[in-house]
Amino acid sequence: MKYMNNHKHVAAKFIVTFVVAIIVLIISVMKTNSYNALRHEAVFSGAELFSVQGSRDNKVSIVAVPRGSTWTKVFDLDNEGIEEANYQAYTVDFTVSNNTKDNVQDYKFRIDFQDKAFLLSAWNGHLEFHQHTDKGEIVDEVMDLREFVPEDHVLETYYTDGDSLVVMNPGDYLIYTPSSSVNAVEMPIEPFKATTPGIIMYFGIGKNLEDEMTVRLDYSFHRRLIKEPLFWVAVSIAIIWLITLLIYIITSMQIRKYKERHERDNEIINESIETFIGFIDAKDSYTNGHSIRVAQYTRRIAEELGYNEEELDQIYYVALLHDCGKIGVPDSILGKPDKLTDDEFKVIKSHTERGGAILRHFKSLKNVEEGALYHHERYDGRGYPEGRAGEDIPLIARIICVADSYDAMNSDRVYRKRLSPEHIIEEIENGKGKQFDPKIADIMLNLIKGNKLDIED
Ligand SMILES: [Fe+2]
Repeated sequence: MKYMNNHKHVAAKFIVTFVVAIIVLIISVMKTNSYNALRHEAVFSGAELFSVQGSRDNKVSIVAVPRGSTWTKVFDLDNEGIEEANYQAYTVDFTVSNNTKDNVQDYKFRIDFQDKAFLLSAWNGHLEFHQHTDKGEIVDEVMDLREFVPEDHVLETYYTDGDSLVVMNPGDYLIYTPSSSVNAVEMPIEPFKATTPGIIMYFGIGKNLEDEMTVRLDYSFHRRLIKEPLFWVAVSIAIIWLITLLIYIITSMQIRKYKERHERDNEIINESIETFIGFIDAKDSYTNGHSIRVAQYTRRIAEELGYNEEELDQIYYVALLHDCGKIGVPDSILGKPDKLTDDEFKVIKSHTERGGAILRHFKSLKNVEEGALYHHERYDGRGYPEGRAGEDIPLIARIICVADSYDAMNSDRVYRKRLSPEHIIEEIENGKGKQFDPKIADIMLNLIKGNKLDIED
């Protein structure tokens, strides 16, 4: 029963731990998902936009790198007859760097223009232009600026030297959305990697690029679950859980095997001793079954004294063997129906010492020698073989003494019938402090009166 409860208790612990692991796992997934859903924004302008060092401090940075100026052009915007080159072309690379261990799942950036600029080309991604005109704001998307056809758009453009350029006035802006097509793959950006879209732009000659634009970067991360510390907490709990479960199963199986073997061993011991006792009881026909009954009474008294199961088993075997010395007493004396001579009575009495001698080497059964040797001692010191008195007689022998006498009085003998319960009670009552230890006698009396000497016949 205790074993079963223990099993339930352990099972409950395993279930609780499993649930905890699942909860931690769910929390780690939710944490990762909400982190991935978060959008971030960073603004770069002036010197910082053009400084590689400055922008590295950001988790995700953008750096504008103008390649060496290549060419200039004449822009006669109002047909004033300008002939001298007044605009310069810049190829500006916008390097977007991921400075974290997470993937940058997606990003886009907006370029706000402070001065008039003309856009010729951009690669990979697509552009959304916001122009402010007299008629209001024009919003138009160009999938690929390299293949820009002005007629297909409502955008304000300027045509020169065979090129159609998109006009950006101060306050106008564009939004660059990177391409994820197989050829371009500008996103996602892997940890500590970068991608570099570029745009060809014309600014007025002599302008400082740092003053020309502000870039706003908008991005989100994709953190993989294995990068989330809580996920590893969940995995650790699960691993410990599994190992503990395995150890528990293996240990339980071994304990069960051990218990089965232990029970089998006990059975063998029990049957061996009972078989041996059978020889003794067979020698003395009128005491048939005596040893087993005495062992059962002894066990019952010891139970009242508070011994545990294992001790009770031991006490049972000790009592079972108490008369084993009778094996050395001749059958002619044991079975004699007439009165015994003094010499014959001496031989009968010698069964205590014979028993002690036989059992002396039975070390694994505690007190077995004392049980056989002293069970005919009397509390008042007038017993045999040594004439010990009171507490000098080992407790096991004092218990057997009471159990033995009770069975003798409760059994038919050649020379008398069994005594009535009232008579037995009277005899034990009178024997207190004389033949019997008064405490043990009282326990026995209680058992008899309360009809609690239930033994199997
Ligand atoms: Fe005896």
